Amino acid sequence: MNATVYNCNVFTLQKIHNRAGNITALNNFIDLSFKIERAYYLYDVPGGEVRGGHAHKELQQLIIAASGGFDVTLDDGINRKTVSLNRPYYGLYIVPGIWRDLSNFSSGSICLVLASHKYDENDYVRDYSEFKKLRERYRR
Ligand code: TYD
Repeated sequence: MNATVYNCNVFTLQKIHNRAGNITALNNFIDLSFKIERAYYLYDVPGGEVRGGHAHKELQQLIIAASGGFDVTLDDGINRKTVSLNRPYYGLYIVPGIWRDLSNFSSGSICLVLASHKYDENDYVRDYSEFKKLRERYRR
């Protein structure tokens, strides 16, 4: 809960280029700094919809625009930054303790998320004022 948005970076993932199409492979501990416990993806997001709107206490994630594109706004309680993902070979690594909003989904886009833990509602912070309080507590 004390990392900042500057600890969240976009990585260019390895691309195996072929004239018949490309492949990107992600291996635990080689291409990723965490072990994938869960993968999930968002799709059929209606135009204008905003997803996310929460932080995680422990979860690490790599977010990939597997198709199309969208914006991810990161917030550590003090700093904010917005990242546009629009290529399947970019991966946004998000550390624990960062509030995120996903917006501006292009039509037909797919947001692939690789996550370090299984789904656990107790790992979510869904209330922004609670998030701010938690962040302040860890700053002291
Ligand atoms: P949530 O993580 O809040 O979605 P987003 O951040 O994309 O807006 O999850 C939405 C719902 O889906 C919530 O009721 C929990 C459920 N869910 C699971 O059951 N398993 C999962 O792995 C995820 C990510 C969500």
